[in-house]
Amino acid sequence: MLIKPNSVDNQTAIETPRLLLRSMQAADLDALLLIFIDRKVMASFGGELFDRRQMEEWLHRNLEHQAHHGYGLFSVILKTSGVLIGDCGLELMEVDNTPVAELGYDFRSEYWHQGYATEAASAVRDYAFQTLGLPHLISLIRVGNIASRRVAEKVGMQFDSEFTRYGSPYWKFKIANPLTRRK
Ligand SMILES: CC(C)(COP(=O)(O)OP(=O)(O)OC[C@H]1O[C@@H](n2cnc3c(N)ncnc32)[C@H](O)[C@@H]1OP(=O)(O)O)[C@@H](O)C(=O)NCCC(=O)NCCS
Repeated sequence: MLIKPNSVDNQTAIETPRLLLRSMQAADLDALLLIFIDRKVMASFGGELFDRRQMEEWLHRNLEHQAHHGYGLFSVILKTSGVLIGDCGLELMEVDNTPVAELGYDFRSEYWHQGYATEAASAVRDYAFQTLGLPHLISLIRVGNIASRRVAEKVGMQFDSEFTRYGSPYWKFKIANPLTRRK
């Protein structure tokens, strides 16, 4: 994993063997919309597709998060083609009255089953632990989303609990930063 913080515009890029994860930008709107109007992707979130306005709001939230916390979701670019194929990154949230960063990922369905989500999520995990020094990461996964659960397991997360969020049952997966764990 190669991390390149850019001191000029404060953007971060992470390079993996096949992918470039770079800070999300306002200009990514159209490419991101292709993920969120993908029926197979949106089936994991209840089925309703985004319209352009929802995409703008989603992107705006992520850009605000990035500006406020110094990290957020990356746009994931396939190096061979330069195509934006997914998003993967971190979102700070409050769970059980404790702030914790969630590791999340969504990829266009034509790029599934090639290990891209695992490759991106592993790089973000390492960035979160080695560069940001975050103590824990969680993933909140709708019960039944086996693909997402498998990605969480493959990046070393363990099942923590099942709980209800916004009326739907979720699995919580968790991993502790081995570099900050108390001896
Ligand atoms: C979850 C998601 C990102 C996985 O992307 P991907 O690039 O296909 O994942 P990978 O290729 O890295 O596969 C990781 C593992 O999941 C398994 N997997 C992938 N899709 C699967 C499916 N539909 N059912 C069962 N296992 C699946 C793979 O076989 C692999 O495990 P293995 O190596 O033991 O065989 C993708 O399915 C997606 O974008 N889904 C919709 C959005 C979503 O659910 N996001 C997560 C919200 S919590």
